Amino acid sequence: MKHLISIDDLSKDEIIGILDKAEDFEDVALGLRSCKILEGKILANLFFEPSTRTRISFETAMKRLGGEVVNVSAQEASSMAKGETLADTVRVISNYCDAIVIRHFLEGAARFAAENSSVPVINAGDGAGQHPTQTLLDLYTIRKECRRLEGLTIALVGDLKYSRTIHSLIKALKLFKNKIYLVSPEILALPEEFLEELDGNAEKAKLEDIIESVDVLYVTRIQKERFLDEEEYRRVAGSYRITPEIVSRMKDGAIILHPLPRVDEIDVRVDSMRQARYFKQAFYGVPVRMAILSEVML
Ligand code: CP
Repeated sequence: MKHLISIDDLSKDEIIGILDKAEDFEDVALGLRSCKILEGKILANLFFEPSTRTRISFETAMKRLGGEVVNVSAQEASSMAKGETLADTVRVISNYCDAIVIRHFLEGAARFAAENSSVPVINAGDGAGQHPTQTLLDLYTIRKECRRLEGLTIALVGDLKYSRTIHSLIKALKLFKNKIYLVSPEILALPEEFLEELDGNAEKAKLEDIIESVDVLYVTRIQKERFLDEEEYRRVAGSYRITPEIVSRMKDGAIILHPLPRVDEIDVRVDSMRQARYFKQAFYGVPVRMAILSEVML
């Protein structure tokens, strides 16, 4: 059974294979071509944390490919509110469907769900852990917009401590040869375990020192919901912001990505600048998730 829990579950060749497949699905994602390869299949979306992009792009991907979706959107709306365990919930739901997409507030929950499921499980984000489908769409966006996945200078900006999109992306980036800068307030620095993954191929930097050299500026929101201490959050809230003045220093062809949602870390005036690709990045979630669903269901 093909679960997708961590980006480490995929080899470099498998990642490239999914990106290539997503490329083939782009016209289907745009509604320009019909391709009902998942007709008769059912996907269960099991979300215990809020989501706009991941949940809806999985649902769109499934429906564009002819399949159907059942949604369990909150603990309160399922029998978990009566005390049913996650293990029992997954055991039951996996008998109703052909694959499960799960988002949970606890790191490790998706792996635990996979151990209790009779169908493939896809991790749509587990606490501050992993978000592998986001990573695949991030790589897809970089390859589309920069025309390559290697030889780039990539700055990871913002909440490197709690952002699961960063933790996941770092695991994938170690497979490709790029220069990586880590830009964050000190209390949101990348945890040591991820620094070790990068094996000396990343360095901490100040945005003003490197902005002219980056090809990809990957910005993240401060993950307010992961802070145990409200005071710690207040100390960093609003401490960085990408403005048009900063963006105007970026070189030709450089791009800005963000997994979204954005709060205030990218000024809305940047949205109309040629470097802003984060809404396009969100669209690419559909063809990439089509490729993932076809991989695990067929
Ligand atoms: N990027 C991302 O995971 O967005 P959602 O939280 O809206 O799914």
